[in-house]
Amino acid sequence: MNKEEITEALLLEDFSLMYEEADHIRLVNKGDDVFIRAIIEFSNVCARKCFYCGINAANNKVNRYRMSYREITETAEAGIKAGYRTVVLQSGEVRDEDPEWLGQIIKKIKKHDGVAVTLSVGEQDHDVLKYYRDCGADRYLLKHETADPELYGKLHPDGTLEERIRCLRDIKALGYETGSGFMTGLPGQTTESIADDILLLKELECDMAGIGPFIPHPDTPLAGTSHGDPEITRRAVALARIILPEANLPVTTALGVLDPNERRKAFSCGANVIMKKITPDIYKKDYCIYPAVFGRTEIEKDRIELEKLIEETDRRPI
Ligand code: 5AD
Repeated sequence: MNKEEITEALLLEDFSLMYEEADHIRLVNKGDDVFIRAIIEFSNVCARKCFYCGINAANNKVNRYRMSYREITETAEAGIKAGYRTVVLQSGEVRDEDPEWLGQIIKKIKKHDGVAVTLSVGEQDHDVLKYYRDCGADRYLLKHETADPELYGKLHPDGTLEERIRCLRDIKALGYETGSGFMTGLPGQTTESIADDILLLKELECDMAGIGPFIPHPDTPLAGTSHGDPEITRRAVALARIILPEANLPVTTALGVLDPNERRKAFSCGANVIMKKITPDIYKKDYCIYPAVFGRTEIEKDRIELEKLIEETDRRPI
């Protein structure tokens, strides 16, 4: 599909045939498995001032934390014990940090056979990305956020789309399974630019893509704007499935925040992955990138509940 065709599809009166197509492509290429990934939000310290993000460096209402080596590895181990086979380590972006600290954590988690480590720690220099890869990190998530260079510039006072893409290309070249993605409904975003977002995933040869609605945070420059449309978000996921048949596409947490039923619906439009927070409760409330209410973390019980929800949609939790 080209840009015009994707734009037209996003605007269709009735999208049901597209959903069916996306679901069929998902079945043929990915089967009925739904991968559940454990995510640990190990630090909310961030150097960047992205306008949409609640933990951006300019928000001085945030209670900043960084989990210790021990807290992180013990949380990861509890997740592995509960059945998770992928641990996602996510944090704000800091660049002056000693990479060896995170390197040791990656190595420790990788001692568990068959466990994959995914990093989501922002833009990093090539050397640092290479070091983490050498420590055993398997995958890397870095959403491009928006493929519109002008809008990207407005929302990111300390970065450019070009640098973001350069970093994503480094990640790919280093042999990481590479994840990008974007937000829908950003103020100033057009339908055409969402088509560009989907095409950029293809151009970057993404192995994974997270697509979620923008949700305004009250303590950011975008406070008071409106959130992204769940329907457009699901359509974008379906089109991403059609265009990237083999990609791993999560049902983003933000979609579930707008409407809990959305999670179920998104599984029938091409998605095959879901992430579950295993961040300890004392920290979880301070990792507030958008307003949301999250219940208490009970690692084993949460996983069992999620498995049930997936089985109810006739899919197989992994
Ligand atoms: N609404 C929705 N998604 C957001 N993210 C950050 N802030 C928001 C928000 N206000 C997403 C970005 C980022 C990921 C970790 O969370 O896409 O890459």
